[in-house]
Amino acid sequence: MFVKIAGTGSVLPERVVDNFEIARMVDTSDEWIQTRTGIRTRHIAGKETVASMAAEAAKRAIEDAGISPEEIDLIIVSTVSAEQSLPCVACEVQKEIGAVRAAAFDLNSACSGFITGYQMAAGQMKAGLAKTALVIGSECLSNYVDWSDRGTCILFGDGAGAAILRADGAPEELEIPSVLHADGSKGDSLTCSLGHGKDKVPYDEYYRMDGRAIFKFAVRKVPEVIREVLSLSGHSVEEIDYFVLHQANRRIIEAIAKRLRQDEARFPMNIMDNGNISSACIPMLLDDMNRKGLLKPGMKLVLAGFGAGLTWGGFYLEW
Ligand code: COA
Repeated sequence: MFVKIAGTGSVLPERVVDNFEIARMVDTSDEWIQTRTGIRTRHIAGKETVASMAAEAAKRAIEDAGISPEEIDLIIVSTVSAEQSLPCVACEVQKEIGAVRAAAFDLNSACSGFITGYQMAAGQMKAGLAKTALVIGSECLSNYVDWSDRGTCILFGDGAGAAILRADGAPEELEIPSVLHADGSKGDSLTCSLGHGKDKVPYDEYYRMDGRAIFKFAVRKVPEVIREVLSLSGHSVEEIDYFVLHQANRRIIEAIAKRLRQDEARFPMNIMDNGNISSACIPMLLDDMNRKGLLKPGMKLVLAGFGAGLTWGGFYLEW
């Protein structure tokens, strides 16, 4: 028995920013961005916030699952880009959707956040502490983008994705084929400071990234973690219908497919339209697939993410 996803939802800010608009801000071009990353457009928040998008994605997931908010035992929001540190976004979502019985907290493992949230929720279910959980990735990365840095501003976007998780059986029968890893010694590859230190000296509040280092790390570690997940679930790579991966760069996903010797068609992508939205990417892509009718009961999926920290991980899911 596995933890199942009973419903999904997602939301994007209204405003669309294409590569031509970015090329008016920094020395780049639509051709360079598309060739090197696959990205054509991204959505950038205006009035939307991390909490407002998280709550909207949650409402859509609840409707898709056909449950009432009172049934939710646990809300986990993954974010690296909230507008405030207190209260946590998960509590704002709890208030907004009326999930009055739910415990709520935020987590930060960057772009691996949805994978981490899934494993935390599944662990609570296995321990008998929760039956229904809402896991959300919501990001306004534009809050921390330096629009004069062409190495980062071309990549990131805003949006939110949510999933309702349910234990499909008794806690003791649950299997959790899920793996999480971290390597803090490589944390300098992607950083962002917040506000002021105790000495009131302002920190650099923008994303700073060694793009090449992250690229190499992702192409090496994601195939490894997919194989680890499959060894736990007892499946071969060939048996998997879809690999739902973090959307950081089309070339990274293509390289992962090549390393696993699998057809790219089983690696769905929405990076072209949305860019990299950190922890929101995976649940948003899952919601796209769900609404397009690509996911049929019994289908086998592996979801995997990687990002700042450095962190990486994955899990096996049966639809
Ligand atoms: N437009 C035009 N030229 C650019 C550019 C841009 N936006 N950004 C960098 N360049 C230039 C560089 O200055 C460099 O020029 P040089 O050869 O004269 O020094 C050249 O393009 C190649 O730079 P490089 O950094 O090697 O490009 P790349 O092919 O690695 O692509 C990224 C850069 C950032 C798109 C790519 O490394 C990447 O996607 N990395 C992963 C990032 C990521 O996933 N981050 C989030 C973690 S979840």
